[in-house]
Amino acid sequence: MLKNPSAKYRPFPPVTLPDRQWPNRVQTEAPRWCSVDLRDGNQALAVPMNVSQKLELFHALVKCGFKEIEVGFPSASNTEFTFNRRLIEERRAPDDVWLQVLVQAREDLIERTVESLMGAKRVIIHMYNSTSPAQRRVVFGKSKDEIKAIAVKGAQMIKDRLHRLKGTEIMLQYSPESFSATEVEFAKEISEAVMDVWQPTPEHKMILNLPDTVEVAMPNVYADQIEWICRNIKNRASLVVSLHTHNDRSTGVAATELGLLAGADRVEGTLFGNGERTGNLDIVTVAMNLYMHGIDPKLDLSNLNGLIDVYERCTGMTVPPRHPYAGELVFTAFSGSHQDAIKKGLAEWEKGGRPHWDVPYLTIDPGDIGREYREVIRVNSQSGKGGVAYLLESEFGIALPKDMQREFGPIANDEVDRLGREVSGAELKAMFWREYIEREFPWQLEGFETESKNGVVRCRAKLLREGKPTDLTGEGNGPLAALVHAFGSANAPKFEITNYSEHSLSAGEEASAIAYIQVKLADGRTRWGAGVDTNIELASIRAVLSAINRT
Ligand code: KIV
Ligand code: ZN
Repeated sequence: MLKNPSAKYRPFPPVTLPDRQWPNRVQTEAPRWCSVDLRDGNQALAVPMNVSQKLELFHALVKCGFKEIEVGFPSASNTEFTFNRRLIEERRAPDDVWLQVLVQAREDLIERTVESLMGAKRVIIHMYNSTSPAQRRVVFGKSKDEIKAIAVKGAQMIKDRLHRLKGTEIMLQYSPESFSATEVEFAKEISEAVMDVWQPTPEHKMILNLPDTVEVAMPNVYADQIEWICRNIKNRASLVVSLHTHNDRSTGVAATELGLLAGADRVEGTLFGNGERTGNLDIVTVAMNLYMHGIDPKLDLSNLNGLIDVYERCTGMTVPPRHPYAGELVFTAFSGSHQDAIKKGLAEWEKGGRPHWDVPYLTIDPGDIGREYREVIRVNSQSGKGGVAYLLESEFGIALPKDMQREFGPIANDEVDRLGREVSGAELKAMFWREYIEREFPWQLEGFETESKNGVVRCRAKLLREGKPTDLTGEGNGPLAALVHAFGSANAPKFEITNYSEHSLSAGEEASAIAYIQVKLADGRTRWGAGVDTNIELASIRAVLSAINRT
């Protein structure tokens, strides 16, 4: 890298708009969406989608609720042309879905594009030519007027062919490609020249798409450019102003959101931001950002995992684990304090009574997009006792008493630390079982009988002590008290019970109960034990032995 980058690079010139309005505005409704997955997304794949993959993705987009879908560049290849024909001839698009096709301002391409649209119900013909100084100079070697002439000629060639699409509802769209790198005055001039040909009206608008083809500035600059055009272009009421951002500076979403505040009506983008270079705008993120502010995004993303499956299968791309809303780790907390806060927030929400979602660390309820609460917490060595307890309870219904969580949490953490990786719920349960339930040495239960007379319970515990049969008997006001006395009267550890709780475990084959018992030894030390049995009384006896065996 250069010590002095200014020797090679320059700042982007700001737009003069001292009374800009967009910073004071608030978004209150969803824009019109247009998916460009099947064109901008597809052209950026190492292996472009075949027709059946494009069909599968097309249907997934329709199911999400997209009403405008750019299906391709029909004049670019046979696959693209055939795909378009199949959509139309097999009537795959619902009547309220507009099929958008892209074409450059060139006669042969326009001709082929019009052919590809015969018999369609509703189409958007999207014509573009590039307008930035670098494109004018390097690619075309043409003046502004010559570049404008390309656009005007292309617009006229399309207009001249519209009569051949009888019975098809048509919307026209123009993009001054590389708009964000173009002087706003020239972008206005060329767009108005196209408008002069197409003659849009407020009743029959045309779409003016203003692409951030390559992000060259901060998102506030794009917003200024959009507001400038919206305020200065003639006949604004006859236009649908559309945004099409890319993500070169990683601010495609921000640029779109600010562009909407600046007056745009429509947004083009792709699922999960697939597209050329760093990708197109991620429509899922913008839609979910609206949703988390209580605005209906007018897209149904309630089965986001299903959509990710289709997307990954069709495009061969993957959604990164930390991708907003969609990533595998988005609803996962690793830190103990986060886990604790989430657990408390979810408990408060589930109790009811709060009007709006306000759970720490979770911008939305994962359940709203088909993600599961149990994805919220996983355990690694940084997790606190709260995370461990949450996982045992949510996955296996093992509700550890608070004080026992304090004992088992560090034990589990040490084990996870030793493994040096994240552990699953099943692994945590196995640790718990090893630590408490399977503790059968030195004391092991062989049998336990009780008889009661006049409120006094007498017990006979058949035990193995270090493998040797040992019978203990004792009396008390219940089986546990009788066992405590039985130990007290024998040559065995003396203890008292300081904490007890129990609950049933999941129904079914394993139908059983679990008891948790804390004992206090004669020397003041306390230990927890746990026992599982189909009989709750035996579960508690086993829990006592588990605690004694852990001293
Ligand atoms: O990024 C872009 O400028 C485009 C145009 C064709 C709209 O994809
Ligand atoms: Zn693009």
